[in-house]
Amino acid sequence: MPGERSSELPPRRSAAFAPGRVNLIGEHTDYNEGLALPFAIRQGVTVKAQALACKPARIFAQAGDLGESDEFPAADPPRVDGWRAFVRGVAAELQRTAVPLPSARLQIAGEVPRGAGLSSSAAMEVALCLALIGLCGPTPLHRTEIAQLCARVENDWVGAQTGLLDQLACLYGAPDTALRIDFRSLSVQPVPLGLGNWRLVVLDSGERHSHASSGYNERRRECGKACRLLGIHSLRDADRDAVASLPQPLRRRASHVVEENLRVEAAVSALAAQDLPALGALLDASHASLRDCYEVSTPAVEATAQRLHEAGAAGARLIGGGFGGSVLGLFAPNAAPPTDAREVRPGPGAHTLPA
Ligand code: GLA
Repeated sequence: MPGERSSELPPRRSAAFAPGRVNLIGEHTDYNEGLALPFAIRQGVTVKAQALACKPARIFAQAGDLGESDEFPAADPPRVDGWRAFVRGVAAELQRTAVPLPSARLQIAGEVPRGAGLSSSAAMEVALCLALIGLCGPTPLHRTEIAQLCARVENDWVGAQTGLLDQLACLYGAPDTALRIDFRSLSVQPVPLGLGNWRLVVLDSGERHSHASSGYNERRRECGKACRLLGIHSLRDADRDAVASLPQPLRRRASHVVEENLRVEAAVSALAAQDLPALGALLDASHASLRDCYEVSTPAVEATAQRLHEAGAAGARLIGGGFGGSVLGLFAPNAAPPTDAREVRPGPGAHTLPA
């Protein structure tokens, strides 16, 4: 309408928050078209963005907690390592998805420890994505498409062949809610996480991991090899009989995936029945399988799980990709978690903030 032209201009500033996540159960199932039950946590990454006038578009990024910065052309950023790969990857993938970026200054502030299995990477990607999109005005990108875009950043810019678990949990999270995600259909169903006076805590093993350099990509290759031998598209189509015909270590890997999908369904039922001891037993079974079949635990992770059990946890398991990171513990009301453990509760998913 005449006289309202200024309201059509893209905003000069925007801001977004994206949370980390805890995966209750369903580990290493996402890239096998399986099931998982994560929730978004209250800690996350905040990105503030300000549009600048210079052309062609350049991005100036500052990572507050690291005291580091980066600067690159938005259209075709050169490749780099470390946190800069996430920023450059998000900008490049947005441009490729026909979101034309203006020049921008970005301030990134995070409260999720890196490499601790709480998905600081997805929180950073998603917050960057939402803040940059916020500078461009309305876009037709759906939340699942944003998750897929961010996963491409991990795969193609960071070199970690991760699935969609972290990004979907971050984007669809809600208070007091876990998410049953089916990675074949990409359907996300809210599951009320009613714990009563029970508590979920995470205890950091102190061992940092990087999916690009750990055994994560190798596990993914092993699953692909198991599928080729079984003549199936994904391990979602495998059953116990088929898995028993595989050579080792592929039999152990595939067996973990098949059983872990079943444990996710059992955990959803346990939550519906408010049977928290049953949930604890499932966490323990998942951990044992990740250690013995998937072989992604380490001595530091085992010591951490043991500390949680010694403090009286009803169940404990490593979360995320493994090879370090954090261990989740479930505690009944009368048990006291170790004092250095952090309670985690399901919080809201990624959202924009007043700029
Ligand atoms: C990491 C990856 C996820 C998922 C988990 C294991 O967090 O980023 O995609 O594969 O490991 O469940």
